Amino acid sequence: MRELSKLLEANRKWAKHMVQEDPEFFRRLLHVQRPDYLWIGCSDSRVPPDQITQTKPGEIFIHRNIANLVIHTDMNLLCVLQYAVEFLEVKHVIVCGHYGCGGIKAAMTRHDYGLINKWLRHIKDIYRLHEAELEGITDDEQRVNRLVEINVIEQLHHVADTSIIQRAWKKRQGPHLHGWVYDLNDGLIRSLIDIPPGTHLDHPIYEFDDLKI
Ligand code: CO
Repeated sequence: MRELSKLLEANRKWAKHMVQEDPEFFRRLLHVQRPDYLWIGCSDSRVPPDQITQTKPGEIFIHRNIANLVIHTDMNLLCVLQYAVEFLEVKHVIVCGHYGCGGIKAAMTRHDYGLINKWLRHIKDIYRLHEAELEGITDDEQRVNRLVEINVIEQLHHVADTSIIQRAWKKRQGPHLHGWVYDLNDGLIRSLIDIPPGTHLDHPIYEFDDLKI
């Protein structure tokens, strides 16, 4: 049980420290959250969004899953996205992957992972779409890392393809969409792609031209 008491003890110290620094801190956040950002990232414990961006409680709304996937039938993600975009009115949606991602690596093998196969299948589909480019990379690590980047770009397009985002773009010219990748080697985030509000999608079949707002 020492592992757990370590967390609770750290929590008590943190709460005390926060009040010492700013006596109104918790009171201010009690009734309202107004984050500017929605973060869609990997569950990997080495990529804690608020720590690597130095955001404080109340500043960043977070959704995480294996390999930061945006799947258009994933109710969990869609509800987070709708809430963040329509009710919190976030200004930015960030999809952030990371080099050396275990989910991406696993999807590039032919190993049977059981239930997880169903999730990794979405990455395998992306691999197939970009096979020519990926197979041209001889170094294994570089090939994984390129798929990490391609995956971020694809998932960001999936965000843009939702009626949630398209409706918001029509209604309030926001949010901006950003694709980032985090490097475990140096702790730095690199920007891969930005999609400003109102941009035409990567394929017109995803565009709704009769959205009710
Ligand atoms: Co990962």
